[in-house]
Amino acid sequence: MGYFFILLAAVALHITIRHKLKRVLLNVIGNALKYMDKPNPLIRFSLQVDSEWVTVAVKDNGMGIDAEALPHIFERFYRAEPSRNLSTGGSGLGLAIARQIIEGHGGSIWMESEPGVGSSLFFTLKRTTEEGGFHSHDTDSDY
Ligand SMILES: Nc1ncnc2c1ncn2[C@@H]1O[C@H](COP(=O)(O)OP(=O)(O)OP(=O)(O)O)[C@@H](O)[C@H]1O
Ligand SMILES: [Mg+2]
Repeated sequence: MGYFFILLAAVALHITIRHKLKRVLLNVIGNALKYMDKPNPLIRFSLQVDSEWVTVAVKDNGMGIDAEALPHIFERFYRAEPSRNLSTGGSGLGLAIARQIIEGHGGSIWMESEPGVGSSLFFTLKRTTEEGGFHSHDTDSDY
């Protein structure tokens, strides 16, 4: 389902979804699924578009993130307390990579969360020009 909306959004908004953007979305949607603890899971994908920017939001009703942990989740290898003990595992690298990719394309990425209620991950990207392609100064550095 997530893949369908991603595809639709890409076509409609002329965003070039390349390998790295797919990686961001897969981790963010993967997190929403992995840290889900509700009997009725809800993951909502939304887009807000203005003339220059696209804001993507992925909202879930999962376990949420404690206020003390929230500022650290984009750090490499950081995993918040309850998720460390989950059998699903993880390296704590997904959001660090996502941040590097989004900021490398001139965008911003952030998370808002209410512990026990859910989390919302947002990122922004500049819309492409007619010539296509991101306004990229991305380097294939260390990932
Ligand atoms: N949607 C979410 N709901 C609750 N907690 C989250 C969510 N997304 C991220 N987190 C918290 O942020 C931490 C960092 O996320 P990140 O994606 O970087 O690592 P990971 O999922 O643990 O491992 P990896 O993505 O490398 O497999 C997670 O371990 C988890 O504690
Ligand atoms: Mg992850």
